[in-house]
Amino acid sequence: MLKIGMLTSGGDCQALNAAMRGVVKSLAHKVDKLEIIGFIDGYKGLIYGNYKKMTPEDFSGILTRGGTILGSSRQPFKLMREPDENGLDKVEAMKANYRKHKLDVLVVLGGNGSQKTANLLREEGLNVIHLPKTIDNDIYGTDVTFGFQSAIDVATQAIDCIHTTAASHNRVFIVEVMGHKVGWLTLYAGCAGGADVILLPEIPYDINCVIEAINKRSKKGRGFTILAVAEGAVSKNDALLTKKEYKKKKKNWSYPSIAYKIADEIEQTCGLEVRVTVPGHTQRGGSPAPYDRVLCTRLGAEGARAILDKDFGCMIAVINGEMKRVPLEETAGRLKMVDPDDSMIEELKTLGVSFGDN
Ligand code: F6P
Repeated sequence: MLKIGMLTSGGDCQALNAAMRGVVKSLAHKVDKLEIIGFIDGYKGLIYGNYKKMTPEDFSGILTRGGTILGSSRQPFKLMREPDENGLDKVEAMKANYRKHKLDVLVVLGGNGSQKTANLLREEGLNVIHLPKTIDNDIYGTDVTFGFQSAIDVATQAIDCIHTTAASHNRVFIVEVMGHKVGWLTLYAGCAGGADVILLPEIPYDINCVIEAINKRSKKGRGFTILAVAEGAVSKNDALLTKKEYKKKKKNWSYPSIAYKIADEIEQTCGLEVRVTVPGHTQRGGSPAPYDRVLCTRLGAEGARAILDKDFGCMIAVINGEMKRVPLEETAGRLKMVDPDDSMIEELKTLGVSFGDN
């Protein structure tokens, strides 16, 4: 008999169900009796004892379904050690619920913040397995996270659609891509969508370089320009500010987000017509791409193997195409950012793509 707890935490993505299915199907194939406690809305369910008893059948037919059958919520790691509004000690509450259900392991599907809490629970003596989820692809220790490829598909589709209308109207278009503090999604969607300018948080931009890239295209007779801009993109000047100073500065902006600020600067300087498109949460929605279905099936199988080996306290990672177990203490709290010297960036520059830096 094996009893597992499972939760999906943080911003959702397309392949959460596929990953849960991978774990459950693999375990059900190997053990005589499998009991599953599904915690509702991520760590919130574990803290407040909100759960449902599930069977392997509940995980059938969900390979292609987006979202998460368990629900999700954001429970910031930095507040985990702080009591809630009723004075509840959240960490003790999570431990108590784990013990109440006599769980053999807790399977956490989540991004960076969720991973930090998983590591905290490991330090507190719980058996934890983490599967790396996020469209941002920013989890240290794995080559790729699930959700990333599906989000690339959606963001690329957005850029593709903009291409045709931009060409008809000879406009400058900005597509703002998600990714939080990192530029992976923008880099890949920008490349796949053939963007002319790609702005990433890791390469602060100079607006003059961006304008120069647009003018260069105009001189060549190209009437339109497409910019893929990461939501976390930052100008060279703003990159010199502290986190606190930049946050304060942004509060005084009249722009909803960075793409609108860049659009305004381009319009003011060149008098060109600029439009902004923000695909936003559509990037996390819909069915998982086949790549993510494959990835989640493999991650799930390896997660199950780790559970059966009683090899807890790790993240199931992809390293050079292989499924590996990486200790949580090695990965928790570290961010995987785009390396500005990445060969892909050099290759795109060879094609004439501007990163707004020179
Ligand atoms: O981490 C995934 C992500 O979609 C980021 O790309 C984005 O910045 C953030 O979540 C949006 O969060 P929320 O869904 O809470 O608005």
